[in-house]
Amino acid sequence: MTELNAIVESARAAFSLAVTPADLENAKAQFLGKTGRMTELMKGLGALSVDEKKSRGAAINLSKQAIEAALTERRAALALAELEVQLKAEALDVTLAGRKRGMGSLHPVSLSMERIEQIFGSMGFDVADGPEIENDWYNFGALNFPEDHPARAMHDTFYVEGGKLLRTHTSPMQNRYAVQHVKKHKAAMSAGAVMPEIRVIAPGRTYRVDSDATHSPMFHQVEGLWIGQNVSFKDLKVVFTDFCHTFFETKDLELRFRPSYFPFTEPSAEIDIQFQSGPLAGRWLEVAGSGQVHPRVVENFGLDPEQYIGFAFGMGADRLTMLRYGVNDLRLFFDGDIRFLSQFQ
Ligand code: PHE
Repeated sequence: MTELNAIVESARAAFSLAVTPADLENAKAQFLGKTGRMTELMKGLGALSVDEKKSRGAAINLSKQAIEAALTERRAALALAELEVQLKAEALDVTLAGRKRGMGSLHPVSLSMERIEQIFGSMGFDVADGPEIENDWYNFGALNFPEDHPARAMHDTFYVEGGKLLRTHTSPMQNRYAVQHVKKHKAAMSAGAVMPEIRVIAPGRTYRVDSDATHSPMFHQVEGLWIGQNVSFKDLKVVFTDFCHTFFETKDLELRFRPSYFPFTEPSAEIDIQFQSGPLAGRWLEVAGSGQVHPRVVENFGLDPEQYIGFAFGMGADRLTMLRYGVNDLRLFFDGDIRFLSQFQ
């Protein structure tokens, strides 16, 4: 009996030393295999008497069962260990922060443009869009820039192939829009009707050969045009003052119309604003060019300047955006630095 117990114990020890399923199967063979120790003991039974066979056989069987139980237990333990190793190797660390795809947002100048469109829209202005590659007529000729007049040199122009140019201002939209408007109402007008007023803004990109902290070769303007039978400089003042109050969300600001010159307006004025409080208080800041539309420009619309009159303005949309958000370098708008842009979400 002690001999059998010793075999069971050594089987248990051998099994627990096995660290892989293959080790375990080898250890099993030593005890339960064809030439294993238990098998050898069973073979020895043949030489015993019937009674001895019975009791010895039963004892051997019990030991064999004990060894098989130990084997099953170890197999389960090894399988579990293996599973654990596998799980660890394939583990997903769900606590790792995900990689987010950032949400885009509108550029500050686009936000301003939308705001400007909304404000003038509420005053009954249409919004028009036009080409950035222009021809000489719309950019200069229709606007009363004489052929060889030094006024053309006021704008350092980017010329492109075929005599075309990148528009130096949004003013070419005055003629483009007005001519269409006049065409639309021509029949009614020749039957004696008065033309419905032209009231439009044209926001967009403009280009000049210029580059420093306050000038970029590409910049944004918003053109405004209001033509009717009785539209005066006083209306320009009212409209522009209202616009500034709404745009900057304050009435605590002064406007100044400073005499100036443009070939397409007469009289002409630069519009300056001055905040009465806040970080920019006390400084006059130029925001737009403006004036009463020149009779020759009205004529080029296809209208009689004796009958139709009005005003135009062109404001710097980047400038307005800088003032609204307190940005002091225009180049920040065009660098595409996400740290700057994400502040306007
Ligand atoms: N086009 C002028 C500029 O770019 C601005 C302007 C527009 C002036 C309309 C008067 C009337 O400087």
